[in-house]
Amino acid sequence: MKITTIYFSATYTTRRVVEAVAANLSNEVTAYDITNDALTEEIAIPADELVVVGVPVYAGRVPAMVAERLRRFKGDNTPAVVVAVYGNRHYDDAVLELHDMMTECGFRTVSAGAFVAQHSIFPKVGKARPDAEDMADIKTFAERSAELVATGFGEIDLPGNRPYKVPGGIPIWPTASCRCNGCGACARLCPTGAIDPASPKGVDKTKCIKCGRCIVVCPAKARRFYGIKYSLAAARFNSAFAARRENEMWFAK
Ligand SMILES: Cc1cc2nc3c(=O)[nH]c(=O)nc-3n(C[C@H](O)[C@H](O)[C@H](O)COP(=O)(O)O)c2cc1C
Ligand code: SF4
Ligand code: SF4
Repeated sequence: MKITTIYFSATYTTRRVVEAVAANLSNEVTAYDITNDALTEEIAIPADELVVVGVPVYAGRVPAMVAERLRRFKGDNTPAVVVAVYGNRHYDDAVLELHDMMTECGFRTVSAGAFVAQHSIFPKVGKARPDAEDMADIKTFAERSAELVATGFGEIDLPGNRPYKVPGGIPIWPTASCRCNGCGACARLCPTGAIDPASPKGVDKTKCIKCGRCIVVCPAKARRFYGIKYSLAAARFNSAFAARRENEMWFAK
């Protein structure tokens, strides 16, 4: 079976989950990374193939910039495995929203999963996930999805509400310390162009989506969220969401 993966993944955990799902399904995988998307053409995926689409959960929703990027992909009733990766707090409406977006693009959801990964703003939450147990869940998820594609499937029931949750946000933005050597990696890889390569220590608050990519790609470990607002929010998050959450999976009837 030919697989197409489509993912937005700022700090690479969604990519890991999507790649693991795909690797358990087939050797023939074409990947579209829409994090720094430069695609403009329409990509049609025929009915006899399978799509694995993955996004991180941002404030209980699909990241806003994903919708526009997903619209380039057109299914022909093509089956889709829908994956939301979240930082051990909750996925809220993101699984349902991603399913709705894919349905609008002509895909039919065969299965959906909400998988836990390390929180990209508060890394002590969900630390080091996905781990071996998560990978075992992903394998089971992929195998059941493949069976359903082979035998045929109907509708899927998913958790979440319409209208979707109104996203909130914490007023924090990452900046760089004096360790910054001006290499420009953060500016090159920022999905929204929020870092000026000529002055990479700062950030354009109107463009930054707090995705955390500039922090993980900085070779000098110079960038992070600084300040009292971040420290207070981190303390609250670390204690409120310390308990391990398990992955959840849903399958079409
Ligand atoms: C702006 C933002 C909002 C987030 N909101 C949530 C959330 O509502 N629930 C949750 O559990 N995790 C949340 N997270 C954590 C991410 O969903 C999680 O770390 C995910 O693994 C990031 O995926 P990535 O590594 O592919 O970027 C949020 C992260 C960011 C950057
Ligand atoms: S500046 Fe903001 S949007 Fe750009 S990579 Fe850093 S956190 Fe993400
Ligand atoms: S990646 Fe780090 S060291 Fe390089 S310019 Fe950005 S903040 Fe500076």
